[in-house]
Amino acid sequence: MADRPRLTTTAGAPWVSNETSKTAGPRGPVLLEDYQLIEKLAHQNRERIPERVVHAKGWGAQGTFTVTHDITKYTRARIFSEIGKQTPVLARWSTVAGEQGAADAERDVRGFSLKFYTEDGNWDMVGNNTPVFFVRDAYKFPDFIRTQKRHPKTNMRSPEAMFDFWAGQPESVHQVTILMSDRGIPKSPFHMNGYGSHTFSFWNDDGERFWVKFHFRTHQGHETLTNEKAEEIIGSTRESYQEHLFNTLENGGSAKWTFFIQVMSEEDAERQDFNPFDLTKVWSHSEFPLIEVGELEIDRNVDNYFQMVENVAFAPSNVVPGIGFSPDRMLQARVWSYADAHRYRLGTHYEALPPNVPHNSQALHYHKDGAMRFFRNDVGNPNAYYEPNQYEDGPVADPSTQEPPLRIDPEAYRYPQETSEADFVQPRKLYAEVLSDEERQRLHQNMAGAMAPCSESVKERWYAVLGRVHPDYAKGVREAAESQPAIPVTDNTPVTAAE
Ligand code: HEM
Repeated sequence: MADRPRLTTTAGAPWVSNETSKTAGPRGPVLLEDYQLIEKLAHQNRERIPERVVHAKGWGAQGTFTVTHDITKYTRARIFSEIGKQTPVLARWSTVAGEQGAADAERDVRGFSLKFYTEDGNWDMVGNNTPVFFVRDAYKFPDFIRTQKRHPKTNMRSPEAMFDFWAGQPESVHQVTILMSDRGIPKSPFHMNGYGSHTFSFWNDDGERFWVKFHFRTHQGHETLTNEKAEEIIGSTRESYQEHLFNTLENGGSAKWTFFIQVMSEEDAERQDFNPFDLTKVWSHSEFPLIEVGELEIDRNVDNYFQMVENVAFAPSNVVPGIGFSPDRMLQARVWSYADAHRYRLGTHYEALPPNVPHNSQALHYHKDGAMRFFRNDVGNPNAYYEPNQYEDGPVADPSTQEPPLRIDPEAYRYPQETSEADFVQPRKLYAEVLSDEERQRLHQNMAGAMAPCSESVKERWYAVLGRVHPDYAKGVREAAESQPAIPVTDNTPVTAAE
């Protein structure tokens, strides 16, 4: 006892026992005045915070980004200001649909989030391991996610809902093809690429804007799991990613990615026959080649998972001067949605939590009080609590960080984005030219297996979508489905309010 620190109450007073309640006699009831027992149970009741509404299961670690090539002609962002410059990074990878306790090796898209602690504040790259997405209008995002979660009656995941939604949303076929291909189950977060997916913008010191895409290419190689291998792994451990990641880093290992950008000028964007802000499409690599920028190395576990990974709040709205948004309507919605999610999940002042507070710059703003305002609310001067003010130490806005003006269409309207032949060109190329014969066979099998519990009407509608990509695709999945054992349809009964 002499060398060990004293146990205290939350108010710092030494505490007498952490194991024995205060009772009326050795066999009698507990006294209400045993406040520390109540305190202990009350704290336990509040140990969980809401899990993320999507991407709840995740794995995090820390590292460094190093600039290896000069891109200052495209962006004034100080993170890229000189070759050799290093910036600390916090990374979190995740699955989209699974809850916090989901098994790691499940077939799903993976989140790929990076928080760069730059001198001009935090830049968050909140991407996925795929360069495209299922939908291209934010109106469709909550419905899409609902189909990935549990059915209201069965409380089970519902392939019927997933394929019903996708069949009514044919532009999803590009992303669904990637999901059902080998890439749908990476071996670990270290064995996959990361993409910003959306088009973002860079602007330079001369006030020129460029549209850009972000790519992080793994040095570890793409390693993936077949359904059978994944089932075997999940049978022995649900935490295969966490084990791989934690043990690799704890044993002194690290993982690396090369960061590339694709760049499109504003004039080129106007000339494209496809919408360069459509999240269901990639940009041609021959027309817009990858430009190398730097290297990301992840080499340290966090000391405390809850503090640094559960509390981390990534937001596409966290950009820094030199990096901006684009007209992509999905991105526009995400710019608002994440901070709102964080206020709900973590609280008003979530940005002051250790993983979110800027590490390489100071947050000086006039947001005031509220729950958990545990840090000073007066930016160092108690009189400077409003703006404008006469105090020299009160922070003032910096007009030099204004983005160049953006030309926009003057006619506001709900412009539909109907499915067209253009939506099938890229998945067709992926199916027919990128995948090998064996990969196509596995894609057929994986997709047929995933849709096995679906009703015939949903299957037929989905085959029709596949047929628009390539006749062999529809045929291959249909034949694979017909050769697999039938699985009863579980949840296509309509749910009525009376139930
Ligand atoms: C997490 C909304 C599309 C990648 C989240 C969260 C919300 C959300 C509310 C939970 C945030 C939290 O509680 O911490 C949306 C909306 C979208 C959208 C409204 C479309 C309109 C996308 C897309 C990508 C993406 C297109 C990738 C390109 C992620 C990632 C996370 C996430 C990686 C987990 C972040 C972390 O590691 O903490 N999203 N999302 N989301 N989203 Fe999205």
